[in-house]
Amino acid sequence: MSSQVSSTPAPDTDLGTIAHEYRLFAERQAKGHSPVYEALSVAVAGDERLLVLLHTLPPVKRQPNLLLAAARRLGAPLDSTSEFLTWVVTRWDEVSSLMLARLTQTNESARCATLLPVLASLPQPLALIEVGASAGLCLYPDRYRYLYGQSQPFGPADSPVILPCRTTGPVPIPRQLPDVVWRTGVDLNPLDPSDPEDTSWLESLVWPEQTERLQRLRGALDVARAEPAHIVRGDLNEAVSRLVAQAPTGATPVVFHSAVLAYLSPDARAQFARTMRNLPCRWISNEAPSVFPAMLDLLPEPAPTDRATFVMALDERPIAFTGPHGEHLHWLSDAGLPVSGE
Ligand SMILES: C[S@@+](CC[C@H](N)C(=O)[O-])C[C@H]1O[C@@H](n2cnc3c(N)ncnc32)[C@H](O)[C@@H]1O
Repeated sequence: MSSQVSSTPAPDTDLGTIAHEYRLFAERQAKGHSPVYEALSVAVAGDERLLVLLHTLPPVKRQPNLLLAAARRLGAPLDSTSEFLTWVVTRWDEVSSLMLARLTQTNESARCATLLPVLASLPQPLALIEVGASAGLCLYPDRYRYLYGQSQPFGPADSPVILPCRTTGPVPIPRQLPDVVWRTGVDLNPLDPSDPEDTSWLESLVWPEQTERLQRLRGALDVARAEPAHIVRGDLNEAVSRLVAQAPTGATPVVFHSAVLAYLSPDARAQFARTMRNLPCRWISNEAPSVFPAMLDLLPEPAPTDRATFVMALDERPIAFTGPHGEHLHWLSDAGLPVSGE
């Protein structure tokens, strides 16, 4: 990687805000996971040409993940930061068109490893309803194999997807897979596991060095193709009540979401929470701590600040800190487990 020397705009300007977002992405997300993305996002933060171009996009379309995925999808060189920057500036029309056409819809089946203990503890069978489902790869917790810490692998031996998950705290490792009788969801733009354009975009969203994640994605897409889920197009606030009402009788309806509500405005999030409190279903939220700040007051221990984390909550009661990509599950000491029929 060559280094990029450039002046950095002040953080109190629009360009400075964009540069700050790219630097934060490098430090808080890419560091330790993707040296390539870490270097590229630091380089973007220091390149005024690119910051000016990013500033022409609506704020929600300026995200590092979106730019990097779009540039990769179009074949940008990744080995040299200066070549990457020049390539993106030169091909900006194509790059920006793809950024405007697509959303960051990273679909991470590994999040099922953090959802599984709570799903397995609910009254069975389950009717799963995922809001913000992307391609629906988190709707198959019963089709994946799990490796919790040092424990024995658990789940179907022939599964093409193995999900390792580090554990801390008194994680209630499940003894049985959940019995899923219904898989449905909603997304602003459902991705089709059988559509080559959609699957290729999903692959571009996996960071360059993460070959295991890529294998996992391909395996999970095979699972989803074999047993398609019904995912409707629409806004989660519009659709969730209808989907819960359609759940089959005799199954526990479970609405869940991970890495979704950060995309909503605070008002839309509050509306969703109000709706959920009145629906006859269980509610699992797996989101960044800032999504529901009131929940932070209920935490028996502080959320880690040295790394990105999600808070997982059942019916608004925090029960675990989770790795944003399902890589880690820390069960809160006094979280316990929901009692069957609770
Ligand atoms: C980062 S992806 C996460 C996908 C999946 N939940 C997972 O954990 O792998 C966020 C998804 O939420 C969807 N989304 C964002 N806002 C939404 C809304 N208001 N209604 C429905 N879906 C939404 C996006 O289209 C995207 O597919």
